[in-house]
Formats: sequence, structure tokens, C-alpha cells
Amino acid sequence: MTLERKQTLIIGLAALFMISLLIVAWVEGGRSRIVRAPDAVVTSENADCVACHRVKSPGIVGQWEISEHARSGIGCLQCHQAQPGDIDGYEHEGSLVSTIVTPPDCAECHAQETAEFDASHHSRGGEILGSLDNVLAEVVEGFVRFDDAGNKVETSAAAVSGCLQCHGSEVKVLEDGRLDPATWPNTGIGRINPDGSRGSCTACHLRHDFSRAQARAPENCGRCHLGPDHPQLEVYQASKHGIAFEANRDRFEPMMEEKEWIPGHHFEQGPTCTSCHMSATRDLPLTHDVGERISWTLRPPVSEKIDAAAIQQGEQVKSWEDRRRDMRNVCESCHGPEWVGNWYKQYDDLVELYNDKFGRPSTELFRMARSSGLLTSVEFDEELEFTYFFLWHHEGRRARHGAAMMAPDYTQWHGMYEVAHRFYMELVPQLRELIEHNRTGPRAAAARRLEARLNSILESEMHRWFLGRTSDAEKAAREAAREAFSQRYSR
Ligand code: HEC
Ligand code: HEC
Ligand code: HEC
Ligand code: HEC
Ligand code: HEC
Ligand code: HEC
Ligand code: HEC
Ligand code: HEC
Repeated sequence: MTLERKQTLIIGLAALFMISLLIVAWVEGGRSRIVRAPDAVVTSENADCVACHRVKSPGIVGQWEISEHARSGIGCLQCHQAQPGDIDGYEHEGSLVSTIVTPPDCAECHAQETAEFDASHHSRGGEILGSLDNVLAEVVEGFVRFDDAGNKVETSAAAVSGCLQCHGSEVKVLEDGRLDPATWPNTGIGRINPDGSRGSCTACHLRHDFSRAQARAPENCGRCHLGPDHPQLEVYQASKHGIAFEANRDRFEPMMEEKEWIPGHHFEQGPTCTSCHMSATRDLPLTHDVGERISWTLRPPVSEKIDAAAIQQGEQVKSWEDRRRDMRNVCESCHGPEWVGNWYKQYDDLVELYNDKFGRPSTELFRMARSSGLLTSVEFDEELEFTYFFLWHHEGRRARHGAAMMAPDYTQWHGMYEVAHRFYMELVPQLRELIEHNRTGPRAAAARRLEARLNSILESEMHRWFLGRTSDAEKAAREAAREAFSQRYSR
């Protein structure tokens, strides 16, 4: 090798080394770069808070600094300042502050969002004390200590760290203005605040950056909307919408921080939970009432239209038809009207099938057993009660949620299949056992009535297959289909 060649090689290698160093530095720099340029405005009234908390709790100041609030000069005091007389206010370094920040505090500047949120079911999510589920948290799984006067002196730890973290606690203030650890930290959606207001904005808006991209992420809703009884997150992730979002997430994420993020306009596929339930479309404004666009309620044992309860109480609310029209407006940003109309037919049919075949009959039979004294009046002390609860509260909801948000596995294997198994293999045998057990004795008449109703349900069109009473025509058609199916792999 000539000297010249050697020199060229060394220079070449050195250049290569420098270039790779530059690439590494660029990648590392990118990683640690804060996406939103921090140009925080610290007003004089907030100077002390920021300076001291930068040392005492640097994470909080760091989050605040990258927020739109900081850029607009909205500092610690604008949210945390308390008024004289506020039950949760306390003296802190020369200012009257309160730790928790409630919807009325945000409403000072965001009145519209607060009014919509306040009108939603979300803001009432904390009112679950009287619910059947609550018996589980306070009695079956947990324990509440009462004094002789009937006051709760100790709450159930199962409720504090479970139910109430999603639904919201009733925040109590101790004598010194500090917050009762049995009730806070808590940012449940329907939290009952010391100022009497309901809900918490930070249930969805993580402090202190209040980022739009974070609020719009499906995982944000998935903190509460997941699991065996309402697996909306899992359903979404298994749907083509969830798949399309995940596949394009890197491309979408920078845009998700912008004020406008309109389906079909700023992104062409992969709507998230908020695109369908909250965000603006070409025609609709952003709403903080997540019930604005849904037509059924899929929560109870038997689904009904979402305005049914209000109509029954003589209240005027947005009709289910108008709500559906608005959801269709979202869908039609990306799909044709016929696709959407046909899809709604498929969805309605599934909800009605669940209602008619399992929801109504199981509810009727269960209530008969309970009201006639065949079951005790104690909740959850008998297996039949768990059977019925699993059927509607877990499996029946999963089937309906799978259909509502396009995840066939949830409609089928986690849904209707489990419902059917629970009904035929557990509910029916357990009812029969109850009837047998009461053939004679004081409840014999009630047992006979229950048996008559159970039999008439099993003999009805949808269930008679179970008694081997399928019609001859149907039997023949099924036999022919079975024959054809068995040939499938023989070719
Ligand atoms: C000299 C330092 C200092 C200054 C100034 C200061 N803080 Fe604090 N702050 C602390 C410390 C330390 C704590 C934690 C201990 C405590 O609760 O007192 C705290 C606690 C808090 C808490 C409650 C946290 C909790 O977990 O209960 C809030 C809210 C708060 N500060 C807001 C403010 C605001 C708003 C200002 C400006 C008006 C401010 N702070 C000024 C040091 C300071
Ligand atoms: C836009 C409103 C807003 C601003 C501005 C704001 N906070 Fe907060 N802060 C909140 C909310 C909401 C919570 C949640 C408390 C709750 O309601 O449970 C909170 C909670 C806190 C807590 C207690 C919770 C924890 O994680 O320890 C501290 C301490 C705190 N803030 C300090 C500050 C400081 C310091 C600043 C200024 C750098 C600041 N906040 C600015 C809204 C705000
Ligand atoms: C003193 C006025 C004020 C208060 C109080 C306030 N905000 Fe804001 N907020 C603003 C301003 C100003 C902006 C920036 C301009 C805009 O987007 O409207 C903003 C922006 C936002 C944004 C959009 C953030 C972004 O990235 O653009 C959210 C979300 C938000 N606020 C939530 C809240 C919540 C939740 C609370 C209560 C915990 C709250 N704000 C309290 C004034 C306030
Ligand atoms: C992981 C968060 C989470 C936990 C934990 C949780 N829930 Fe829920 N709960 C929800 C969500 C989300 C809904 C709404 C589901 C839907 O709309 O499909 C709901 C619905 C309900 C409803 C129906 C409300 C209605 O208007 O029909 C009741 C009652 C309820 N929960 C009570 C409880 C009780 C009691 C516990 C504890 C034993 C509990 N929940 C635990 C998130 C939770
Ligand atoms: C269920 C979750 C959720 C709750 C609870 C919630 N928000 Fe939001 N919020 C969002 C989402 C998601 C967005 C962004 C929607 C979009 O534009 O796509 C948003 C956007 C905002 C914005 C920006 C509005 C704009 O015009 O761009 C403000 C301000 C805001 N929220 C304030 C609040 C206040 C105040 C509360 C409490 C009263 C609250 N939010 C409660 C999810 C929530
Ligand atoms: C493609 C649009 C779309 C997406 C994406 C979407 N949903 Fe839905 N969602 C719907 C439709 C449609 C319904 C049924 C509406 C009706 O009954 O008319 C529904 C129903 C619901 C319900 C009511 C359930 C009940 O029990 O009554 C909840 C809660 C819900 N969705 C939450 C979520 C969450 C959380 C996500 C994200 C993890 C999500 N949705 C993603 C369209 C969507
Ligand atoms: C902190 C927990 C929590 C978070 C986060 C949350 N939800 Fe909910 N959501 C609930 C609870 C609890 C209910 C049932 C309220 C009730 O009926 O009592 C509910 C009900 C709903 C409903 C039914 C509303 C109605 O009017 O029937 C929809 C739709 C919904 N949520 C969508 C969302 C979306 C979209 C997000 C994310 C942007 C979200 N939720 C975030 C807890 C939460
Ligand atoms: C932001 C655009 C967008 C919105 C909004 C949207 N979709 Fe989709 N949807 C898509 C895309 C893209 C696909 C996947 C298409 C494919 O198969 O390539 C899809 C798939 C579907 C599928 C799955 C069909 C299959 O092949 O498995 C159904 C059903 C559906 N959408 C119905 C709806 C309904 C109903 C709404 C409103 C509640 C809606 N979509 C909202 C873009 C959207």
C-alpha cells in the first residue's frame, strides 16, 4: 500500500468515526429534547412558588414549564389560590392556597368545558354508594366499621384503592385544613369535592403539562375503561381503528398536540376514543359530555336507549336519535353513509339479541327467585347471585361493547359464548336446584311459579333447542350444512 493510499484510508476512517459520533449525538439529543419549546412566563406573584418548588419538587415545575399555561403566564397561584373561608384553604409560605384544584377553579378560564363536563354522566360517577357493586367493595371483599349511631368510622380499603380511584371519592378536609388520607390522593372522574362541586378535570388532564396529545391518547381513557366488565380499551385495540392508530401513531403524535385534530381532515384513519366521543369534527364542536353521541346504554342487565330513563322521569334531554346522528357525523368523516347505516343495523341487532335471549329472561327469573323469598334478601350470599352478576355485568357487557366498537372476539368468545354457557350450564341448573329444594315446605307455591316460568322460557323459540325440540325443517338444514362442512378438509 502506498503512503498516499494509507493516508487516504486513515482520513476516511477518521471521517467515518466523526460522522458516527455526530449521529449518536443527534439521536441522544432528540431523545432528551422537550417537544414543546419552553418559554415559561413566571409572573411576580408566582416567582416564590416556582423558585422554591424548583428545588423541593422539580418534577412539578418541569411539567408546568412545558405547558401552554406557563407560556400564557398562568402560574401556580392561578390554580391553587384559595379564597378566605374556603374549607380546604391553608396558609402556605405567605399565601392562602388549597392543594386540590376543582372544576370551578378551572372554570374561571374554561367555563364551557366545565359546564359540559358537569352535565355529563362522568361528573356523577362518584354516586355509587347505593349500587350493588358497592356491596362487593364494602361488605363481600372489604370491611367498613360503623359506630353505634350508624356513622362510618373506617372506610373499606378495597373501595379506597379500587372503586373510588376510578369513580371518585368524597374528599374530606381534616381540622388543620389538610386532606384526609382515606379520601385523597384521588382523581376519580366523579370525585365529590370539599367545595361541593363534582368531578375532577385531572382525571383526564394529567398535571402539570395539560397536554392535548396525552388527553387524546386511548390509554388515557383506558385507565378506567378496561378489564372484565367494561373492556373498551382492549376492544378498541383489537378493532381495525385501534390497529390503524397504532400503525400510524408516530406520524400522528406531533399533530395530536394541536388545537384542531379533526377526523378525515388532520388524520385519515385510526380514530381514537376521543375522536368518536368528544373531539370536534368538520361539523361538530368539541364536547366534554361523553354521552353526547351514544344511543344505547350498555351498562344495565337489559340495555335501553340512553334517553329512556330521563323520558320516564318527564325530563327533556337530547334524544337518542340526535345523539346517533352526531356519532354518524364522526363515522362519515371516513366512511360512506350506507356502510355506517348497515353497521348500526348489525350493532342494534346484537344488543337486541342479547336483551331478548338472555338479558330479559335471566333478569325476570332472578327477580322472581329473589322477591318470592326463594333467595335470601342478603346480597351475594348465594351462588345464583354471582352467576347472574357475571352474566350481565361482565359477559353481557363485553358482548355489547365488542359490537359497539368493532371487536368480534369480544362479541363472540369473551361475550355471547360466555353468556350462553353461564345461562344454560349455571343459571338454569341452579334455578332447578332451587326449585327442587323448595318442592315442599312454605315456599312450594313460589317454587312452582318459578318452575312454570322457567319452563315457558325454555320452550320459547330461542331456547327450545336446549330441550331437544328443534323443528324438523331446521334439523334437516343443520344436518346438510354439517355434512358439507365435514367435506371441507377432505379435498
Ligand atoms: C419556601 C419554599 C416554598 C414556597 C415559596 C412555596 N412552597 Fe409550596 N410547598 C413547599 C414544600 C416544602 C411543600 C411540602 C410540605 C408541605 O406540605 O408544607 C409544599 C407543598 C405545597 C402544596 C401541597 C402539596 C401536598 O402534597 O399537599 C402545594 C399545592 C403548594 N406547595 C403550592 C405552592 C404555591 C401555589 C406556592 C406559591 C404561592 C408555594 N407552594 C410556595 C415549599 C414551598
Ligand atoms: C392549570 C392549573 C394548575 C397550575 C397552573 C398548577 N397546578 Fe398544581 N395542581 C393542579 C391540579 C389539578 C392538581 C391535582 C390536585 C387535585 O385536585 O387532586 C395539582 C396538584 C398539585 C400538587 C399536589 C399533588 C402532587 O402531585 O404532589 C402540588 C404540590 C402542586 N400542584 C404544585 C404546583 C406548583 C408548584 C405549581 C406552579 C409551578 C402548580 N402546581 C401549578 C393544577 C395546577
Ligand atoms: C387563569 C386562567 C386559567 C385557569 C385557572 C386554567 N386554565 Fe387552562 N388554559 C388557560 C390558557 C390561557 C390556556 C392557553 C390558551 C388556550 O389554549 O386557550 C389554557 C389551556 C388549557 C388546555 C389546552 C392545553 C394545550 O396544550 O393547548 C387545557 C387542556 C387546559 N387549559 C386545562 C385546564 C384545566 C384542567 C384547568 C384546571 C385544573 C385549567 N386549565 C385552569 C387558562 C387557564
Ligand atoms: C378501573 C376503574 C373502575 C373500577 C376499579 C370500578 N369501576 Fe365502576 N365503572 C367504571 C367505568 C369506566 C364504568 C362505565 C362503564 C361503561 O360505561 O361501560 C363503570 C360503571 C359502574 C357502574 C354503573 C353506573 C351506571 O350509571 O350504570 C356502577 C354502579 C359502578 N361502576 C360501581 C363500581 C363499584 C362499586 C366498584 C368497586 C367495587 C367499581 N365500580 C369499580 C370504572 C371502574
Ligand atoms: C374524559 C376526559 C376529560 C375530562 C374529564 C376533561 N377533559 Fe378536557 N379535554 C379532554 C380531551 C380528550 C381534550 C382534547 C379534545 C380534542 O380537541 O380532540 C380536552 C380538551 C380540553 C381543553 C382544550 C379545549 C380546546 O378548545 O381546545 C380544555 C381547556 C379542557 N379540556 C378543559 C377541561 C376542564 C376544565 C375539565 C374539567 C371540568 C376537563 N377538561 C375535563 C378530555 C377530558
Ligand atoms: C370508531 C368510533 C369509536 C371509537 C374509536 C371508540 N368508541 Fe366507544 N362507542 C362508539 C359507539 C358507536 C358506541 C355505541 C354508541 C351507541 O350506543 O349508539 C360506543 C360506546 C361506548 C361506551 C358506552 C358503553 C356503555 O356501557 O353504555 C363507552 C363507555 C365507550 N364507548 C368508551 C370508549 C373508549 C374508552 C374508547 C377507547 C378505548 C372508545 N369508546 C373508542 C364508538 C367509538
Ligand atoms: C377516572 C376514570 C375515567 C376516565 C379516565 C374516563 N372515564 Fe369514561 N366513565 C367513567 C365512569 C365511572 C363512567 C360511568 C359513569 C356513570 O354512569 O356513573 C364513565 C362513562 C363513560 C361513558 C358513558 C357516558 C354516558 O353518558 O352514558 C363514555 C362514552 C365514556 N365514559 C367515555 C370516556 C372517554 C372517551 C374517556 C377518555 C377521554 C373516558 N371516558 C375517561 C370513568 C372514566
Ligand atoms: C378517522 C377515520 C375513521 C372514522 C372516524 C371511523 N372509521 Fe371506521 N374505519 C376506518 C378505517 C381506515 C378502517 C379500516 C379499513 C380497512 O379495512 O382497511 C375502519 C374500519 C371500520 C370497520 C371494520 C370493518 C372490517 O372490515 O372489519 C367498521 C365496522 C367501521 N370502521 C365502522 C365505523 C363506524 C361505525 C364509525 C363511527 C362510529 C367509524 N368506523 C369511524 C376509518 C374510520
